Formats: sequence, structure tokens, C-alpha cells
Amino acid sequence: MARRKIIAGNWKMNKTPSEAVALVNELKPLVANDDVDVVFCVPAIDIIPAMQAAKGSNICIGAENMYYEESGAYTGEISPAMLVDAGVKYVVLGHSERREYFAETDETVNKKVLKAFEHGITPIICCGESLTQREQGITIDWIRMQIKIAFLNVTAEQAKTAVIAYEPIWAIGTGKTATAEQAQEVCGAIRACIAELYDEATAEAIRIQYGGSVNAKTAPELFAKPDIDGGLVGGASLKPEFGDIVNYKK
Ligand code: PGA
Repeated sequence: MARRKIIAGNWKMNKTPSEAVALVNELKPLVANDDVDVVFCVPAIDIIPAMQAAKGSNICIGAENMYYEESGAYTGEISPAMLVDAGVKYVVLGHSERREYFAETDETVNKKVLKAFEHGITPIICCGESLTQREQGITIDWIRMQIKIAFLNVTAEQAKTAVIAYEPIWAIGTGKTATAEQAQEVCGAIRACIAELYDEATAEAIRIQYGGSVNAKTAPELFAKPDIDGGLVGGASLKPEFGDIVNYKK
């Protein structure tokens, strides 16, 4: 069975609650497409207003982060139960910006992934190499390590429903999209890694996105590759252009 594409926006630290409502209302008609899953991952404070604005549309609201404890003395953190209660179905975990600025590690990503599954939230698990690592020729080794740690103790049934976002750090926010061939090479290697960790059926089911300067021009070629099941889109997800990315086939 063909995998359903999933195209997600990552708003990062942009848009106040009232701006979020305005943006959802603006993009709602543009991203209408029942052939793909459309997710807007928004700042925590925007989740509830964005959810209300998206009601009745095909837009699913996701979170950009989540903590791995249930509740308690973790000032400033958001718990999985809070996301579930707000109606959140997806959460971005281990984005390279969180790894760089907020001390996220493969180990904390794994804890969060397990916690998300425990609460029925689908994790969008990010991985990606730096420019130095690519130049050193260790891209595939690095990504395989990130994937292996992120999936520690995750069952095959859970892994089948996961989303992985391959985002080369050198391509994020730089306007330098990886070529479709570069992206396919790594996404194919990720699927092979999942087949090794689990089995062919799990590898066939899991969805793998490409992220890093995806735009309306580059999306069609990227999303046509056999192992690329959609995209995680930063900058372009805040603009009407996101509608063209979601409707990349038209
Ligand atoms: P970008 O961001 O599309 O602005 O490069 C992608 C991401 O960080 O998810």
C-alpha cells in the first residue's frame, strides 16, 4: 500500500496567538487537499487558538516540543497530557535547533519519543548532519546512530506510525535545499536502518520527510522520490506558498 504523504509546517518561534489565528484563516483555503496529511506545528501558546481556527478544515495542529515527564516541578515545560487534552496529534521532537540551543540529545529525544507513543501522540523525529559531517563523509553513519538511539525500546507497532524528518542542518533556513538525489539517498538509508531494526513491513509503513529550505519549486521533485513521504517546512510554511507545497502535484 502506498504511504500517505505528510506535509508539516514548523512555525518555530513565530506568530503570536492572534497572528496564529489570522495565518490559519489565511492558509486554510490554500492548503485544502484531502490526498495528504497537513500539519501545522505551532508554538505552545498558539495551539489552542490555532486549533479553534482550524476547526472543520483538513489542518491538524501539532506541537514543536514536549517534555518526557508526566507532571511536576519542571518550570516552563509542556507535558504530554497537556498536548493530548488540547487535541494535539503530532509533536516535533529533536529538531536541530533544540539540539543546538536547548541541550537536546539523542537520549532525551528517545525519552520523549517513548512518552509521546505512551500518550498516543505521533512523534515527528528529526535527524540531520552538519556541513562538516557531510564533508567528512560520515552522514549516513551519523543519521543511523541518531535513528538507532531515537528508536530504543520503541515497538514495531509504534515505529510503523512514526514520522521521521531528515533535515540536513546546512539546508535549514539557508535557502540551500538538498538536491532530490541527496535527500533520497539519506531517506533511503533511514528506511533501510528501520528495516534492520525491525522488519520490512515496519520500514514500508514508516513515513520519512525531508526538511531544509523546502519551497514550492523544490517540493515536487523531492516528494516524487521513492523514500520521501513529504516535508517538514519552516520559512515557507508561514506564507501562502505553503498552499503550493501542499498541492505540489497541481
Ligand atoms: P526551513 O526550516 O524550511 O526554513 O529551512 C525547516 C525546519 O527547520 O524544519
